[in-house]
Amino acid sequence: MSTIAIETAGLVKVFGDNRAVDGVDLTVPSGTVYGVLGPNGAGKTTTVKMLATLLRPDAGEAHVFGHDVVREADAVRSRVSLTGQYASVDEDLTGHENLVLLARLTGHGRKPAAARADQLLAAFGLSEAAGRQVKNYSGGMRRRIDIAASILNTPDLLFLDEPTTGLDPRSRNQVWEIVRAVVAQGTTVLLTTQYLDEADQLASRIAVIDRGKVIAEGTKGELKASVGAGSVHVRLRDARQRPEAERLLTAALAGAAVQPEPDPVALTARVGTGDRGAAEAASRALAELAAAGITVDNFSLGQPSLDEVFLALTDAPAPTEPAQEATA
Ligand SMILES: Nc1ncnc2c1ncn2[C@@H]1O[C@H](COP(=O)(O)OP(=O)(O)O)[C@@H](O)[C@H]1O
Ligand SMILES: [Mg+2]
Repeated sequence: MSTIAIETAGLVKVFGDNRAVDGVDLTVPSGTVYGVLGPNGAGKTTTVKMLATLLRPDAGEAHVFGHDVVREADAVRSRVSLTGQYASVDEDLTGHENLVLLARLTGHGRKPAAARADQLLAAFGLSEAAGRQVKNYSGGMRRRIDIAASILNTPDLLFLDEPTTGLDPRSRNQVWEIVRAVVAQGTTVLLTTQYLDEADQLASRIAVIDRGKVIAEGTKGELKASVGAGSVHVRLRDARQRPEAERLLTAALAGAAVQPEPDPVALTARVGTGDRGAAEAASRALAELAAAGITVDNFSLGQPSLDEVFLALTDAPAPTEPAQEATA
């Protein structure tokens, strides 16, 4: 089996005068989760649709397991599966009926289809809901049945387009577990997400995209090193001590970018070392503040947000686009 699942070079898709995907180069190793991280409107879905042969690129090339997505679209389709906004689950059918129907459509006999449906429903925690119409499912259940439907025939490559957007934390965790299980069975997953922590949890490599362009790419470690491992947030008892606190933090955190916040007692510093290093640096900084008689009311060490990633990579906050569904 090929060790490269996806390779694109200069991939472009233009809608009118909007270069939705503007020269994307990606190399996705097989057998892993590859994260495509970017804000709303970055071009994630458009990229996925081209790779899944649902949209024709305007320029550039893309190969999936060595097959050209335009010239060998059938070969690509036989190896991939897509979930996201375009899943084929029928709202009026029950979860069980949906999976059986899709299994039958892809060539399973009646009994094997029912057995596969039961197996997936159990694996996805949907056995109890199996007899209910999908339109009555919660958001998390709906997302899980979508993924179940897309792996009926264990694809070599699975596209998961923002599988957890809008889900509560518990449902997100369930989807994450499923993704890990899918990869453990040998499927390569291309996962798009707006959440840095999701990419961090699941992906081995991450491409950060913005306005149709890849603005950073690498392993999680490389990306974090370029962004900083996290942010130290401090709230002081007394706003008058903030300039002194800012000076001490800057020194204790080895020249980290310490920023006063609009709140007069709050400070944020980006920590630029590895995970453990960040925690150590932060506790050292706290000790310095205490030694100087500065009272800290509240303190937290957080992962960088997508905004902070964008700040670090582009010097601009993550663009926000009105949550508007593009119709294909
Ligand atoms: N079918 C379409 N027609 C016109 N514009 C589109 C279409 N699909 C997407 N776009 C535009 O292309 C850009 C990228 O969209 P999309 O790939 O959906 O981003 P993402 O999935 O990262 O949110 C956006 O500006 C979006 O409005
Ligand atoms: Mg999208």
